[in-house]
Amino acid sequence: METTYLNCLALFGVGGAHPGGLNLTRRVLSKEKINGDSKILDVGCGTGQTSAYIAKQYGCHVTALDNNRIMLEKAGKRFQSMNLPVEIQHGSAENLPFQNDTFDFILSESVTAFTDVTKTVPEYNRVLKANGVLLAIEMVRNTDVSENQMQEILDFYGVKQLLDEQEWRTHFEKAGFNHIEMEEVELHPDIHKIEVSNDYSLSTHIDPSFYEVFEKHHHLSIVYKDVLGCGVFRCSI
Ligand SMILES: C[S@@+](CC[C@H](N)C(=O)[O-])C[C@H]1O[C@@H](n2cnc3c(N)ncnc32)[C@H](O)[C@@H]1O
Repeated sequence: METTYLNCLALFGVGGAHPGGLNLTRRVLSKEKINGDSKILDVGCGTGQTSAYIAKQYGCHVTALDNNRIMLEKAGKRFQSMNLPVEIQHGSAENLPFQNDTFDFILSESVTAFTDVTKTVPEYNRVLKANGVLLAIEMVRNTDVSENQMQEILDFYGVKQLLDEQEWRTHFEKAGFNHIEMEEVELHPDIHKIEVSNDYSLSTHIDPSFYEVFEKHHHLSIVYKDVLGCGVFRCSI
């Protein structure tokens, strides 16, 4: 298995692997009109912390999708142990295996940045109902960076692009979202430390090289603390 940042998150089974963690998720969702009939897609669900929270809190229909089978296996165990009827789906955000107009909400928590947004964002629009809402908690570039710095960030995180607020907005608009709001999230310095998560599901064998990935992540988050921000985008049609 390649020693990548995402494989590292999968092997350690880090829950709530997005800036702000479950606390931010709770706050973002609490502003929405979610009821028992709502259909929600947790795209790039990881180990399913958010999907489990939504299913339990709102009793609505939740679909948890990821393209990483280790993540999905760990998510499945979580849902089973909590006796939650979350639907698990393997697939890519770039080519969603759902019909048009399926969901009331799509939640993307530190996922879309890892994908080709020119494919992913139009897919979100396609599978959302006409009055549906996309909520995306994503990495936002706050300042300009040199080409070398940009490459270092792209290579380490395996992200396909590092967008600033305006570039994100342009992608959402191009995909047909007409109403776009962004809330900048103040990140506590420790938020980038994966070690502060208290939700792990470890794989049996983890090659020592993966521990170095955590260290490099921590190092880069200090070096690029002014560059790497986080925004909560709320997009509707
Ligand atoms: C940083 S983790 C966030 C996981 C989860 N949303 C959370 O907050 O804990 C990114 C997740 O996106 C998934 N992912 C990356 N590219 C994807 C794609 N093209 N389609 C579906 N999932 C993807 C990864 O496998 C991983 O689970």
